[in-house]
Amino acid sequence: MNEHFDRLDRTVEQALEGGGADRIAAQHKKGKLSARERLDLLLDEGSFQEIGQLVTHRSHHFGLDQQVFLGDGVVTGYGTIEGRTVYVFSQDFTVMGGSLAEAHAEKICRIMDLAMQNGSPVIGLNDSGGARIQEGVVSLGGYADIFFRNVRASGVVPQISAILGPCAGGAVYSPALTDFVMMAEGTSYMFVTGPNVVKTVTHEEVSAEELGGASAHATKSGVAHFTAPNELEALRELRRLVGYIPNNCEDEPPRTVYTPGDERRPGLDAIIPENPNQPYDIRELLNAVIDPDSSMEVHAEYGKNMVVGFARVAGQVVGCVANQPAVLAGVLDIDASIKAARFVRFCDAFNIPLLVFVDVPGFLPGTDQEWRGIIDHGAKLLYAFSEATVPRITVITRKAYGGAYDVMNSKHIGADMNFAWPSAEIAVMGAKGAAEIIFRSEIAKAKDPEAKWREKEEEYRRQFAHPYEAASRGYVDEVIRPSETRIKLIQALHMLRNKVDKLPRKKHGNIPL
Ligand code: HXC
Repeated sequence: MNEHFDRLDRTVEQALEGGGADRIAAQHKKGKLSARERLDLLLDEGSFQEIGQLVTHRSHHFGLDQQVFLGDGVVTGYGTIEGRTVYVFSQDFTVMGGSLAEAHAEKICRIMDLAMQNGSPVIGLNDSGGARIQEGVVSLGGYADIFFRNVRASGVVPQISAILGPCAGGAVYSPALTDFVMMAEGTSYMFVTGPNVVKTVTHEEVSAEELGGASAHATKSGVAHFTAPNELEALRELRRLVGYIPNNCEDEPPRTVYTPGDERRPGLDAIIPENPNQPYDIRELLNAVIDPDSSMEVHAEYGKNMVVGFARVAGQVVGCVANQPAVLAGVLDIDASIKAARFVRFCDAFNIPLLVFVDVPGFLPGTDQEWRGIIDHGAKLLYAFSEATVPRITVITRKAYGGAYDVMNSKHIGADMNFAWPSAEIAVMGAKGAAEIIFRSEIAKAKDPEAKWREKEEEYRRQFAHPYEAASRGYVDEVIRPSETRIKLIQALHMLRNKVDKLPRKKHGNIPL
């Protein structure tokens, strides 16, 4: 009997060692942790249970028959984060560059299947040279098996990807199909074709970091929702992210304990500048309304004229979507629309109420936006809000002009409660532009056209640049003092806590992609 246990001990030791101490040391030298160290940091201490530790690689071509690779370059299993079960895989770069082949893919598919059957999130820690070259088409098939499951799991259980090393070629599509992508700065990159191919095809010289590093994807492409200065921070942030999301689409996000106090926020009464063209930072407003230190911004460096992220109000998780007047006057453009639409859809899929803060002068004009399809991209946000069935509350703080008024969670597209501050201006456009168009001939004929314009602008402002016309029609439920916003939101969230809303029966909608 002892003989059997000795063999088990030896085999497990070999599996745990993975690529060996020297290879792990090389990984450390690059500022990277090993696959198991990452899991230890991600999960609650001692909670990791491995599955498929002794699975071996299948192909024996090109020298792969010389050695047995236990685990086949990926560590898979489950564990807990703050006591809640998550399914995990962690690619082991020290074993054949973490390359993905038949057994490796099967292990990942297995934990994805378990996550779906049992209704818990999947977290993938990616660090891989891509399809294992020695296994050919079987590796490609393995990727496709994962992509298929990513799509089937989408909207059923949350899926989160951390990129902690290379991620190239078609391999990028699994993270892209998940809900959130976190990248570690300086040690990770993602691209469909690497710098060498880029140089051959387009003669562009670009480094891997410039082409697909954390900064490129956080600021330019929007592929990365979060970045962290190093792996430790990335893993810590992943734990924090899990704290905002439910286990699955039938579940509620975790609540924290909330002790009612004085919920008035007098500072908000002075936050809107006298001059309607002067910016203010929407984050300051959001921080005053939500529970202290409860926010986690998503896509912080991308489409910065829109701010989206998770927060808590009276202990309840909410998704905040807010125009940012401090960047491009909070205008809606392609990046902001796509960013917000995707976030709204995540929140809706996972039962997270939406709080929307509106100060938007309209859509960004110009050939660049029009030719790149602001029509379709703006429609994505309209679509996302219109189909959302979670509680939806809007606060109009200042401008709500034109189509952007409709798009930003107006009553007309299904918002549940709409509040406006007295400073709200709800109109087809700003007073200056409106006066110029509708009083053009009167202004032109005037002795002093400049004075006439100002007079007409003022007339228009008195007529429309306030929230009372909208409130008289019930488009706004209540005009509130800014300092009472948090109180109103707490009450409204409580009132809407049992909301039931269903979409018409259909196979699926056709969001303008
Ligand atoms: C097999 C691989 C591998 C791969 C790396 N290795 N990538 N083995 N298949 N795809 C092995 C190396 O041979 C090496 O083994 C070890 O991993 C470490 O690799 P190094 O090159 O020494 O590491 P580094 O210098 O850090 O470079 C990492 C790298 C490079 C940039 C990822 O290895 C690389 O360019 N690999 C090829 C990437 C690639 O073209 N993959 C296919 C992409 S296409 P030894 O034994 O020497 O230590 C793809 C299609 C997916 O993935 C399609 C899905 C639809």
